[in-house]
Amino acid sequence: MADARINPEAPPSPEHVTIWRKDYRPPDWLVPEVSLDIALDPASTRVRSSLKVERNGAHDRPLRLAGDEIRPLTVTVDGAEARWTLDGDTLVIDLGGAEHAVVETEVEIVPQDNSKLMGLYASGGILCTQCESEGFRRITFHPDRPDVLSVYRVRMSANKARFPILLANGNEIAKGEGDDGTHWAEWHDPFPKPSYLFALVAGDLAANRDSFTTMSGRKVDLAIWVRERDLPRTGHAMESLKAAMKWDEKVYGREYDLDLFNIVAVDDFNFGAMENKGLNIFNSRYVLADQDSATDADFDAIAGVVAHEYFHNWSGDRVTCRDWFQLSLKEGFTVFRDQSFSADMGSAAVKRIEDVRLLRAVQFPEDSGPLAHPVRPESFIEIANFYTATIYNKGAEVIRMMHTLMGAEAFRRGTDLYFERFDGQAVTCDDFVDAMEEASGVDLSQFRLWYSQAGTPHVTARLEHDTGAARATLHLAQAVPATPGQADKQPMVLPLRTALIGTDSGRELAAERVITLNEPSMSVVFENVDEAPLLSINRGFSTPAVIDVARKSGELERLAQTDADPFARFEALQDLMYRALLAGARGETVDYDPVVAAMGATLRSNALDTAFKGEALIIPGESVIGDRLPLVDPQAVHESRDALRGAVGASLADDLTAVQAITASGGDLSPEAKGTRRLRAVALGLIAAADPSRGAALAKAQYDSADNMTDRQAALATLANLKGPERAEALDDFYRRHRGDTLVIDKWFSLQAMAGRPDTLDQVETLRRHPDFTMKNPNRLRALAGAFAANPWVFHSGEGRGYRMLADFVIAADAINPQVAARLVPPLGRWRRFVEPYAGRMRAELERIAGTPGLSKDVFEQVSKSLA
Ligand code: ARG
Ligand code: ZN
Repeated sequence: MADARINPEAPPSPEHVTIWRKDYRPPDWLVPEVSLDIALDPASTRVRSSLKVERNGAHDRPLRLAGDEIRPLTVTVDGAEARWTLDGDTLVIDLGGAEHAVVETEVEIVPQDNSKLMGLYASGGILCTQCESEGFRRITFHPDRPDVLSVYRVRMSANKARFPILLANGNEIAKGEGDDGTHWAEWHDPFPKPSYLFALVAGDLAANRDSFTTMSGRKVDLAIWVRERDLPRTGHAMESLKAAMKWDEKVYGREYDLDLFNIVAVDDFNFGAMENKGLNIFNSRYVLADQDSATDADFDAIAGVVAHEYFHNWSGDRVTCRDWFQLSLKEGFTVFRDQSFSADMGSAAVKRIEDVRLLRAVQFPEDSGPLAHPVRPESFIEIANFYTATIYNKGAEVIRMMHTLMGAEAFRRGTDLYFERFDGQAVTCDDFVDAMEEASGVDLSQFRLWYSQAGTPHVTARLEHDTGAARATLHLAQAVPATPGQADKQPMVLPLRTALIGTDSGRELAAERVITLNEPSMSVVFENVDEAPLLSINRGFSTPAVIDVARKSGELERLAQTDADPFARFEALQDLMYRALLAGARGETVDYDPVVAAMGATLRSNALDTAFKGEALIIPGESVIGDRLPLVDPQAVHESRDALRGAVGASLADDLTAVQAITASGGDLSPEAKGTRRLRAVALGLIAAADPSRGAALAKAQYDSADNMTDRQAALATLANLKGPERAEALDDFYRRHRGDTLVIDKWFSLQAMAGRPDTLDQVETLRRHPDFTMKNPNRLRALAGAFAANPWVFHSGEGRGYRMLADFVIAADAINPQVAARLVPPLGRWRRFVEPYAGRMRAELERIAGTPGLSKDVFEQVSKSLA
């Protein structure tokens, strides 16, 4: 509820209501059929809707249809004038004692004024929709909850010259010409679906067409719709789509079910993409790519998101969520599916490292901060705020642990049972776990705590070796920290892939096995351990926890060189870096030699592949370093990291120079080629950290000779940090070269906002007034405001000026697009983690936002929880 203390002037707003999972009730009325007739026009769109409704169970409650910023022009029931009222935005219709009825409404909406980008809106010259979670109610009156499934029939009409292409879910069943230069099309989707999966698109679009033959031999027409000039950039997305379709057949036995699969790219989009049945709508950054405009990371992200949305056809569309508390049912599972797909398509080790890096960078801080929530939340004010790293990425880890605990075969039996049992239904996380449990025979009762308890578990591990008895004993203990609303936690089920390695010989003393820690503490005995053992624990990050291992000196160095598990090896190297970084941040004298030696050995190793080296040599960023400190002094963290980078760059100058000189052809997207470019980028950064003028010269040369965006962007990122004429030259050249190319100009904004320079805040202010800057485009807003807030040293600099700037962005953006504005709040919400005077200044800016009249419930929820 609204808190009077935060803004004494403003009365508690009725929209700031908390919704509870425990209050779930099945819908009073079902809607088996929806028929829409939409006369499209950016300035005035008429939506006529006809709902076939059916009373669900015995009750005498009226029909309540959700609306949001719409007013009914007409309401009829079975063709006659209806008895209706408005309760806030909700249309309440008295249906008397009828068991079923046909309810028709008519509304008018203005897509071109819809800056929230939810419902029907205009992007460029395209009209498109985004309905998840609650956007359908901005188009027409409807129960708009995911447990109400309907078969949709949609008739669209529009000016033919401006909107020659008309698309909706399912199949086109009729089309024709209308009056005054209009045309129309009628689409029908045979699969009952919730309203959040409804979509339509109208625009002047061109298609990259292809086809896919499913495992049962059905031919599916595929099309990726973009503006004509973007067609040459759609090849990678199409290849990714076909690979994903094939993979889902092979790995999950899931076949596509319509004759048509459409993807549309739009420039203005709140999130990554949306899995509307048969008509996925994407942020153009996850569709468009070529060598000259996209980095390796962009190519990988496109493959991952295309696969993610495609996989939702089963994990989301065919089987959907009963209510929004179950969001991770589809998102956690689908992220796990897209992660597995990407691992199979490239380097599995690198993919796992990247996924864990993201989890630690985004989900761990969320889980230890004021916005921590369980994978299945108990309450929310605004569901849009819950499309979080916890729901998505921790949710994926929970699925991955089930896979680890039961093995690939039993896991597949479980998903087969899940899809078969719940096809066409809206279900819960518990339904999923029930199916997995039943098919595998593994008892998952305690495991379900992963859905209800928030907070990252902490594990301590200590290995004892009795030389005489040749016996090693592993002592394990776990604790889950308190999180908002959850003071006391129960012990969880933590599957730890563990092996013992000979300290001197490097041989395997105990083969890898899964140790399941499911009590507050336990000990595990290993026999026949006839050599001093090294503990290799939580291999592959089998449990998303913080693991604290008591280590003797020299152990990490040995593990970094001998562990057969690439992830564990990466971890050992990272832990060596952290040891130096944390000592530096605490103001202790640092011995850089062990890190330098381990990084040097990794660089020179003939046994390790380039892709792995490129990942393993990345020095952790300032924000994740801070996460390992009790309280953060951002200046101390920055200096410590700079010092390590400088020391490594100076000591390994020759090796780094050698790898920086190795190039890979831009068109080559193999893991080796990507690794070569990654390693080059890492080396360039380290060289520049030790010797800025040499770094600038090498970076300028790399920039000038690059035949791909990965090398060019890496060079520019290094130059952006430095002084000297090369910096401005390259930034100007980049702008001139890519002017008008929206996705690349986003990079130009964020590279400057990410620069670690004393004047970066000034640059952000200048860029905010740049003619190419607009807060209306979410990608552009994130490229500037999101980027500098993710640049810790800069964000925390200027005696609170960075905080003030972010708060100004939040307040201004909230008036345009609350969902996107609310996503900028978390960096300020971490205030409790910082020393004074940082903490107090961050808090003051949160209070200033909270005191702003007319705040959206999106920003209200984030800010009030951050202050609580
Ligand atoms: N279901 C979409 C996806 O994961 C994301 C939709 C985001 N919508 C929202 N309101 N947050 O691909
Ligand atoms: Zn998703």
